[in-house]
Amino acid sequence: MDIDSVKKQIDQDLQNINTTEQLEGLKNKYLGRKGIIAELIGSIPALPQEQRGQFGQQANALKNKILSLIEEKQKSISSAAGETKEKICDISMPGIAQDLGRLHPITQIIDEICGIFNRMGFSVIEGPEIETEYNNFTGLNIPLEHPSRDAFDTFYLKLASLTGTTAHQHTGKLLLRSHTSPVQIRVMKSCKPPLAVVVPGRVYRPDAVDASHSFMFHQIEGFMVDENIKFSDLKGILEVFAKAVFGKEIKMRFRPHFFPFTEPSAEVDISCVICDPVSGLAGERVSGLKNLTGKPANSHTGTPAKCPVCHGKGWLEILGSGMIHPNVFRQVGYNPKKYTGFAFGMGIERIAMLKYGINDIRLFFENDLRFLKQF
Ligand code: PHE
Repeated sequence: MDIDSVKKQIDQDLQNINTTEQLEGLKNKYLGRKGIIAELIGSIPALPQEQRGQFGQQANALKNKILSLIEEKQKSISSAAGETKEKICDISMPGIAQDLGRLHPITQIIDEICGIFNRMGFSVIEGPEIETEYNNFTGLNIPLEHPSRDAFDTFYLKLASLTGTTAHQHTGKLLLRSHTSPVQIRVMKSCKPPLAVVVPGRVYRPDAVDASHSFMFHQIEGFMVDENIKFSDLKGILEVFAKAVFGKEIKMRFRPHFFPFTEPSAEVDISCVICDPVSGLAGERVSGLKNLTGKPANSHTGTPAKCPVCHGKGWLEILGSGMIHPNVFRQVGYNPKKYTGFAFGMGIERIAMLKYGINDIRLFFENDLRFLKQF
């Protein structure tokens, strides 16, 4: 191959090059270790003595020329790419809408309720979902043989203990907590009064799943401990809470009840948010019952006898509460003569179902976007 035909060939070859990759190939073809230039230089020793010098110079000049041609081509490839990039961006085209996520309705309600208590001076503290028998029962004045243990059907774990065998003897088996009350024990054991705490979190009970039961649900526990805390403090705080969540017209009543960890104890009802015979605001609290389709889940007439939610009673139970039992204070090392306190616990799903008119607890856990997008 002679120098002139190589010159012609490279001009031709360059015309067909459009990408950096192609240019790389071409560079290899001419300047590579076994490329055309190397071949030319390799042929020098076979030439007659007097031609060698000139041929060598020409081959070198050709090599430099090829180098600069390649450089030029590279520049034109890069600027062409830049041009098309600019063309791709057409600012008059409609954008691509991003799907926005949102907080789960349960998370929203937890935030709302914790916010209400937070503004009244309560701290928000969380506890573990795997608990000891001691914190879940014994510390809360529910001894092993106490009949009330039957009411708390519980998932026990096969793990011996989180912390080893000696701790195990004192704390009992491990379990999935059946209520958020064990966090009372944890907080009181590690902090001194005055205390005002709310505890949101998941709890577990081996219930068969249906429209109003789930083996896992959420609670918010609240408690306040100091010298001279009275039942009237509990009433006042819960009234602020209920009015903030369900509206100023909501009525409340305290019904005597029994919990081993509070004495006296009460269940708290609010006037039915659906038929509302107590305040006479039938149906005004809940604008539309939310179900899977977003359409009203039923066409309720407003007569208490037919109300599907309160079954005509006019009242809805929303939480359990009471004054913390002196035995609980003894368990955590507080002097029950010095300190008093109240505690309450509510189911979040129930509050959310009443607030939004949701008729099936399973909707919260099925992750159906038709339901979730309504919040
Ligand atoms: N832990 C109780 C339950 O799960 C609720 C409760 C909490 C009652 C605190 C009284 C005081 O049913």
